[in-house]
Amino acid sequence: MTAKKRPRVYITRKLPDAVETRMRELFDAELNIDDRPRSREELAAAMASVDVLVPTIADKIDAELLASAGPQLKLIAGFSNGTDHIDVDAAAEKGITVTNTPNVLTEDTADMTMALILAVNRRLAEGSRILTDNPGDWAGWSPTWMLGRRIWGKRIGIIGMGRIGTAVARRAKAFGLSIHYHNRKPVNQATESELEATYWDSLDQMLARVDIVSVNCPSTPGTFHLVSARRLALMQPTAIIVNTARGDIIDEMAMIKLLREDKIAGAGLDVYQNEPAINPKLVKLANEGKVVLLPHMGSATIEGRIDMGDKVIINIRAFFDGHRPPNRVLP
Ligand code: DGY
Repeated sequence: MTAKKRPRVYITRKLPDAVETRMRELFDAELNIDDRPRSREELAAAMASVDVLVPTIADKIDAELLASAGPQLKLIAGFSNGTDHIDVDAAAEKGITVTNTPNVLTEDTADMTMALILAVNRRLAEGSRILTDNPGDWAGWSPTWMLGRRIWGKRIGIIGMGRIGTAVARRAKAFGLSIHYHNRKPVNQATESELEATYWDSLDQMLARVDIVSVNCPSTPGTFHLVSARRLALMQPTAIIVNTARGDIIDEMAMIKLLREDKIAGAGLDVYQNEPAINPKLVKLANEGKVVLLPHMGSATIEGRIDMGDKVIINIRAFFDGHRPPNRVLP
């Protein structure tokens, strides 16, 4: 990147200090040190004047907002793996390049998926709540108290065997689960043998056979409510579902209904249909010990956020040096 003209970069949220320092050194960076979510009006105003927008998944960069982009806006360098919050087609029509931050969230998100599987099946949140909210309720160890479901020897069905799905499969195998997956196409032979994984072309058939369903595919128009009411009803009543991908992949209302009717045993959720709003019925189910709810923190590690920031910087620098940014997202 030439030292002459530093690109004007608008960052919508507070980033780790080390990333902000580097951004300040390299760019004419407008930071958000108070971490106040920016309104659509503020985003529109920024897009009319800056060279680069750095949005997060909490900023919906749709066609309407993109209409306010001035000709100087050349790059949307997303601080995210998912790009479902950016209308990549509308950006391309305006000649705006879009980038994201893949690979660096994979292991952290896979860890959180396993954490939710363990939390739901072994009643971690419930157990913890007993000691923190009502410590007197613990009368001591008993053979029949707080029994959960064993994980070892069960079957996991992973929906979406990309980087995160594969990382979940590796962990799940170490926990003694047999690996089943549904994907657009089978993974390569070496990975399938390493994981001793079974590919299911039919999602319906896989859902009917597994004990744990893990949603790990991206949110696209094609995966909206992929786990529909009809498909959820195929799950066994002893099975649980875990979602660390995006809320709109599951029909949330249908899932709530089946959980309430004991037709699905439990759910571990990090993502929701209308984030940050949470359906109160889910909160009720959490209080009853049926579901474990987390506030979209699957990738929230210090290291991960710094790595994401580094990727954003690399993409911006490559773009202004006249190279193809390494994480360009194609429409
Ligand atoms: C992403 O960046 O897409 C993640 O969902 C954030 O956790």
